[in-house]
Amino acid sequence: MNILVIGSGGREHALVWKLKQSPQAGTIYCAPGNAGIATLAECVPIKGSDIDGLLQFAKKKKIDLTVVGPEDPLVNGIVDLFEKQGLRIFGPSRAAAELEGSKVVAKRFMEKHRVPTARFAVFSHEQHSEAKRHLESCTAPIVVKADGLAAGKGAVVCQTIGDAHTTLHDFFEKSALGNAGKTVVIEEFMRGEEASVFVLTDGEQYRILAPAQDHKNILDGDCGKNTGGMGAYAPAPIVTPDILSAVEQKIIVPVLKGMRQEGKPYRGCLYVGLMLTQDGPKVVEFNCRFGDPEAQVVLPLIDGDLCEILMACASRTLHTVQCPEHPATAVCVVMASRGYPDAYETGKPISGLDALSAEDGVVAFHAATKQVDGQILTAGGRVLGVTAVGYSNELEKTIRTAYSAVHRIAFDGAYYRSDIGSKGVRYLLSQLKGSV
Ligand code: AMP
Ligand code: GLY
Repeated sequence: MNILVIGSGGREHALVWKLKQSPQAGTIYCAPGNAGIATLAECVPIKGSDIDGLLQFAKKKKIDLTVVGPEDPLVNGIVDLFEKQGLRIFGPSRAAAELEGSKVVAKRFMEKHRVPTARFAVFSHEQHSEAKRHLESCTAPIVVKADGLAAGKGAVVCQTIGDAHTTLHDFFEKSALGNAGKTVVIEEFMRGEEASVFVLTDGEQYRILAPAQDHKNILDGDCGKNTGGMGAYAPAPIVTPDILSAVEQKIIVPVLKGMRQEGKPYRGCLYVGLMLTQDGPKVVEFNCRFGDPEAQVVLPLIDGDLCEILMACASRTLHTVQCPEHPATAVCVVMASRGYPDAYETGKPISGLDALSAEDGVVAFHAATKQVDGQILTAGGRVLGVTAVGYSNELEKTIRTAYSAVHRIAFDGAYYRSDIGSKGVRYLLSQLKGSV
């Protein structure tokens, strides 16, 4: 089976790595890929935004399955285009991808189908004064979200109503996020811990993957600026079997049913971003793709053939395929460039990658690297996702394995959080204390 993976980050490296383990995998191409992906796949310089270029490539190389990493090509309709040409592709249609592409569509859909989420109101920029009046009736903290895709900058948690007014002004009057911020959702602030659950689905059948927790802030203790994600671990014990069952019955089943009823069956990976509140799990957001860096810990836990599973989703035959899980834990520590998520330098040589070995249960997924004259250089903010898989339920041990690998890798200005996974350990300890 010839496969094309679209994207260039750690998530795509993990996808290629897992797909490559399949006996069915023939040549794997990645567009555009990175230096790490290039060790497993043939990288081709076509960007995710060049949907027509990707289609021509897929036809020319007789690609049997295309797997889309990032959201933009999905929201821009790559699945509709490929399917119209008879090509198999893993991901939702443009209409289904609106669950991520438009916060307003997602919130209204959840309201209609009674999916638990934060209370909300919607305002367009023409309704700035109504939005201001609405804010005066709210209590802080309050969350202001741009309707459209904003590369992770679209949701602002405002600690005061004054901050919320400023955010509205930035979105509506200063066009801080362009068209994406011309309509906003103002929503209730939810308290609790966050977790991510991925669902693989062919529109009818679904398989739920191991719940994960991301670490979005730049500093230890979930402090400092928001980032694309500084590390993840799975399975997250805070998502107990009871909570996962509530997520399935109250969120996943009604969402997939609702999407079918609305004539836009959801196929691909549905990322359910959750807040585990005192009133039960509620949806923070949907994404129409795997999370990054969660994919780096969730995919290694699948004890099955990813080619077969993704192909079954794309060809509506998921009922024929199981998706068992290894009884294992996985931890991914992101190594970033100094300065990230603000300005940072690139082009720094990376050492120590050769010392890692799969036998130790460690793999460094490349997020932004390039190879120049035989040397691997940093090429972005998040550079590597150093991932350990421990074939036991000992989360602490897997965390130690991941950090011992991180300590063997070096580049000028390397920065990483030192507490990835510790919330899982804390939760497990609190359960132990509760049971004695
Ligand atoms: P989003 O882009 O919707 O995923 O939001 C980004 C981040 O903002 C989330 O991961 C949460 O940490 C935070 N957030 C978004 N909405 C809420 C909410 N209603 N209550 C609390 N935190 C939120
Ligand atoms: N890890 C957050 C995301 O992929 O959106």
